[in-house]
Amino acid sequence: MGGPDYIELYRRARAAVPSRSKTPEEWGRRAERMNEGNLLDNSYTRDFLSAVDISGCESVLDVGCGVGNLLIPLCGKLKRGYGLDFSPGMLEAARANAKKAGLENATIVLRSWEDDWSDIPPADIVIASRCLDVDDMAWALQKLHAHAQRRIYVTYRIGPSYLDEAIYEAIGRKLIPRPDHMLVVNILKQLGMKPKLSTIRTEDKHSAYPDFEAFRKRVEWSLDTLSSDETRKLRDFFENLPRGTDDERVHKHPIEWALISWEK
Ligand SMILES: C[S@@+](CC[C@H](N)C(=O)[O-])C[C@H]1O[C@@H](n2cnc3c(N)ncnc32)[C@H](O)[C@@H]1O
Repeated sequence: MGGPDYIELYRRARAAVPSRSKTPEEWGRRAERMNEGNLLDNSYTRDFLSAVDISGCESVLDVGCGVGNLLIPLCGKLKRGYGLDFSPGMLEAARANAKKAGLENATIVLRSWEDDWSDIPPADIVIASRCLDVDDMAWALQKLHAHAQRRIYVTYRIGPSYLDEAIYEAIGRKLIPRPDHMLVVNILKQLGMKPKLSTIRTEDKHSAYPDFEAFRKRVEWSLDTLSSDETRKLRDFFENLPRGTDDERVHKHPIEWALISWEK
């Protein structure tokens, strides 16, 4: 026996990170932006879907389904699907998207990670994409596992922060790294699963900012309220960003996701 207790290491690393989880209302205000453009015209969605093995499967459960960008295409290929999310705004968009796609086999339910899922039927495939924002990772992974009949797919951001490290440096804020994605892999191993790991790399599609206000809002989404000194420094950083073709400021920040999957 022996070896590190990854479950506890994750808990400790998570507790050290100052940023708080977003509320359902904050996510709801994001729904419109997440729903922009063609749902499938997005390299993340395409790469995630192409990694999901649906052979021998009839059903999917999508936890933190957002606007339904993964749930809806999967319901198009399977007999039935459930989408859970704790944000009414996201669910409204997901229901509208399912209707637009002519789907009648997608059940979209207001439900959080913490709620009781006992009335949600188990599914062949369970996914949790870009929503593993939890204090107890082992508990969340086991909850997904318990609801799966065949395969589970999750994604978790690679890297110490959701935001470009250069921004922390520019505003003088200390970066306390988020729990590493390898902790998620090792927790699964500790729980006796056999996880597989690959990566999805995307460009942040919202990388053009018409004005400083738009950029400040993006940064505050990740860092909470900025002090007046931090705001001044951020403005300097913004003023030095290159200009795009429509005179907007461009801040490119490639994003990598760990795609972690395992079987029952
Ligand atoms: C970044 S979005 C991801 C949406 C979608 N899964 C995707 O990858 O495009 C995160 C989603 O998780 C949901 N979420 C965040 N915390 C949650 C919680 N505690 N319980 C249920 N859903 C949650 C948010 O409302 C949001 O829709």
